[in-house]
Amino acid sequence: MIQPAVAHGRLTGLDEIVDVGRDRVRGGYSRHVWDTAELELREWFRARAAALGLDVETDRNGNIWAWWGSPGADAVVLGSHLDSVPGGGEFDGPLGVASALDAIAMLQADGVTPTRPCAVVVFAEEEGSRFGVACLGSRLLTGAMTADRVRALTDADGVTFADAAAANGTDPRFVGHDPETLARIGVFIELHVEQGRGLIDLDSPLAVASSILAHGRWRIDFTGEGNHAGATRMADRRDPMIAASRGILAIRDAARGDDRATVGRIEAVPGGTNVIPSRVTTWLDARSDLDGDARSLVAEITARVQDAAAAEQCEARVTEESWSGQVVFDPALRDRLAATLGGIPALPTGAGHDAGILSAHVPTAMLFVRNPSGVSHSPEEHATLEDCVAGVVALTHVLRGLV
Ligand code: GLV
Ligand code: MN
Ligand code: MN
Ligand code: MN
Repeated sequence: MIQPAVAHGRLTGLDEIVDVGRDRVRGGYSRHVWDTAELELREWFRARAAALGLDVETDRNGNIWAWWGSPGADAVVLGSHLDSVPGGGEFDGPLGVASALDAIAMLQADGVTPTRPCAVVVFAEEEGSRFGVACLGSRLLTGAMTADRVRALTDADGVTFADAAAANGTDPRFVGHDPETLARIGVFIELHVEQGRGLIDLDSPLAVASSILAHGRWRIDFTGEGNHAGATRMADRRDPMIAASRGILAIRDAARGDDRATVGRIEAVPGGTNVIPSRVTTWLDARSDLDGDARSLVAEITARVQDAAAAEQCEARVTEESWSGQVVFDPALRDRLAATLGGIPALPTGAGHDAGILSAHVPTAMLFVRNPSGVSHSPEEHATLEDCVAGVVALTHVLRGLV
């Protein structure tokens, strides 16, 4: 039996995977759904869960479930994800998974036998780094996105989700809304590293989540005329790279107050140094407090990028790729956690999570662990051992009160 990691003053799980999926080029970690690193993490999870005597199964959407006791209805489910953004941090995702296993190990060491089903879940493709849509595993589970749409999503190499799933033991014919699995979840709790400066400002190691900004992703295609970099006079160009550059500045200018607007990914076609591109595609991540605010932000951005493109005799087309409305976490569950944990603060977040997707269906809560760098989706993301241990201890208290 694996000893509870915190009893040794360390997080055993994270120690074991510290070298899996290190990105030698970008720094940090690149662990994308069903790539070599993420598959290794899945194996690590299965082995650790099995060592705790948990029964491991993979659902029809590629999410992994490790059951303490028999699977069944009204289960207490803890968990998070193991995939990362390109060049991401060590903690975003794996901290929640390792902590969930540690919490069960702590209770087992205390001789606790759960009186209700209890599971740790690893959701597939939370970051959307491979197929472009975040929280794919939980969106499929809950029916928030149709199976047909997801099956047809492609990665950077043109591999469809359906083919990638099939190659990794998930039959693409059966992906999609899974009401039986969803019905088993009585309550879902995701522990996560905090991704901004909230806990630094509060001077607290932990918080419960109060809400998540409304957010989504849009693809913006700027089209112009591909041509020769040397033979084409500047006045004769319809260069979509210039249109996109103007567009990106306009996007920054459109975001006010609590809005967030980011272009983190850009692709020039055909992509040669001596070629004026025929198309430049940028991906917009836009967020704001309320659904209406985020929608108006994107409407304003759409108008501004079209103006920017027109100024360069180009065109811009904006296509929605995914959307998640504002989440307000279950107040009763949040209060219960805060009471169990002695009144820890509540904190809103701008980051999306599987917990946000699940919150439309089951009582859901999140626990945040302080990030002293205040930086995430970056190799600089951090959490101290002491704060991680505080997170595991808190999760253990919460779990004890629920099982
Ligand atoms: C995922 O971490 C997101 O918030 O985009
Ligand atoms: Mn993330
Ligand atoms: Mn995450
Ligand atoms: Mn996230």
